[in-house]
This record gives sequence, C-alpha cells and structure tokens, in this order.
Amino acid sequence: MTAYPQARPRRLRRTAAIRRLVARTRVDPASLVLPVFALEDAREPVPIGSMPGVVQHSRDSLRAAVAEAAAAGIGGLMIFAVPRRRDPLGTGGTEPDGFLATTIRDVVAEVGTSMVVMADLCLDEFTDHGHCGVLDAAGEVDNDATLPRYAQMAVVQADAGVAMVAPSGMMDGQVGAIRAGLDAAGHHQVGILAYSAKYASAFYGPFREAVASTLAGDRRSYQQDPANLDEAVRETALDIAEGADMVMVKPAMGYLDVLRRVADTVAPLGVPVAAYQVSGEYAMISAAAERGWIDRDAAIVESLTAIRRAGADIVLTYWALAAARLLDRQA
Ligand code: PBG
Repeated sequence: MTAYPQARPRRLRRTAAIRRLVARTRVDPASLVLPVFALEDAREPVPIGSMPGVVQHSRDSLRAAVAEAAAAGIGGLMIFAVPRRRDPLGTGGTEPDGFLATTIRDVVAEVGTSMVVMADLCLDEFTDHGHCGVLDAAGEVDNDATLPRYAQMAVVQADAGVAMVAPSGMMDGQVGAIRAGLDAAGHHQVGILAYSAKYASAFYGPFREAVASTLAGDRRSYQQDPANLDEAVRETALDIAEGADMVMVKPAMGYLDVLRRVADTVAPLGVPVAAYQVSGEYAMISAAAERGWIDRDAAIVESLTAIRRAGADIVLTYWALAAARLLDRQA
C-alpha cells in the first residue's frame, strides 16, 4: 500500500496568491540604490560596452536619469564621477568646485531630499595610477597619508549636499578619519555607508571600463582576500566602532555567506547592511540573457531576492530602475 504524505509543503506553493502571501523576502524599490556614472565634459551619454544599458552620463542625461529614479521610488543614488584629468594625489576628488562636487550639486538640485544621495568616496577615479590611495616613495599605497585626503573629500562631498558618504578604499581607519573630518566641519548629520567587507574581486572588471580606470595591477594589498570570511566580521566591527552608520558587503552573489554572517552579527546592533551587486554580476546576467541563455527579467528579480534573503537590507544595483518596473508589474 502506498503511504501518501500528510505533510504537503506544495500546498503553500499552489497558486501565485498563496506564494505571495507566504513570501518571506521582498524586494522593494525603496531599498534599492542606483549607482550612476557622470563623465566630465560629455555632450552625450556614452554607452559602457561591458554593461549594456548602463552609460557614462552627460550633465543633462544624469539629471534626467536621477529624476526618473526618484519618480520610480528608488531609495538612493551612488554617484561616481569620471574626471578628465588625473594626478598622483587625486586632487580632483577634493576640489570644492571640481567635477565631483558640481555633479553632486546637480543631482541634489534635481532630486532634493526625495532620495538618499550618496557618493563613492575613494581616490581611484582621480589618481593617474588608479589606486584608491596615494602612493609612498616605494610605490605602495600609503594608508595613513591617504586618510586626510579621504577626510577632505568627505567634507567636499558633504558641502556639495550628499546625505551620506560611502568610503570604498579599504584603508585602515578610514571611517574614523572621515567621521572626525565631517564633525570638525560641522557635518554631524552626514552619515557614513562604509564599504566594510570589500573583496579584491575580478567581478569589478566592467566597472574599470565604466570609470576609465588607469589601474595597472590589482588592489589585493588593501581589499580583502576572497579566501577569508571571519575577516569580514572584523572589518565590519572596526567600521562600526569608528562610526559607520551602515555597512556594506561587496560583491554580492559570490559572497552571500559573508552577507549572512555580517547581517547576523550587526543586525542585533541595529546597523543596516547593504550589499553591492557589482558590475561583473550585471555583465554576466546581461551577456547570458543577450544570448538567450537565461531569462533576464527573472534573473534580475531572483538575484535581488537572493541578496535580500541572505541578509541585505539595502541593495546597490545597476538594475534599480528595471527592478522597480518589474516589481510594479508583479504587484
Ligand atoms: C572604488 C570602487 C570600485 C567599485 C565601486 N567602488 C572598484 C574597485 O574597487 O576596484 C566597483 C563597483 C562595481 O564593480 O560595480 N572606487
């Protein structure tokens, strides 16, 4: 005689209405952050070949894009400025009226306080050698000489109107130096989203095209080794102790274990956790979808759901707008 099961988990999967009712993880446009690239002196938006659908914005196209993101209910923006000129110290990053600062002012003028305007805080877009910090005489990235540059950059960004700065350079002590710099300038209310557990990843490849990176070599002497998990907890704890308001794990998909671990550690402290679905993650799904090998829209929603399920309160994704539209259609 056949023993029929009494427990039938499939009952909870039978209809779309039941599945929606019992879903434990939702992706909400308000929890998404759209990274945007602004190219100095661009007359037209310039497509990024390895990131189909993503562009380096002109001044006008950036204003239009952020207005569209605001209208779609996207929670925040992460601004990356791609300047024309670079030098060893990355002085463009700390010019009070330089391209980065004017770009931030433009974006804030467009979206006001309807979105959380943030900017990447790192020197790599501004240095001619492409590293995230300044170099010492031996050509190594000089941690402590970089800290005052970051503090200065934070003040420039805060003066230009960001709600939060987002240090991504992985220098030891950067969050503390930035917090002190902001406070000394009277910016007590400007927050810090720290890229705390940021790994040296091949999945940043397309980003190098997006910011016209001049980097030769790699960032393994400052970004984390993909082989290590516990170190992410240490980095995160240090950043929180130094004053980080929110922390981030990056990349996302290959690091869901890190994300879960960090979320379990800091969620009880009330610290929100972000994850960055990086350029290579975007490129892989886009390329496979272009070939008809996977369903792009389904892969977007599934990947974002997986990142949220692993513990991300906030997700940075180049698909923020696409996702908002897909979610709108599903609701
Ligand atoms: C550093 C920075 C990088 C990214 C965000 N901030 C590049 C790097 O660390 O090499 C990568 C983002 C992505 O790949 O989408 N300014």
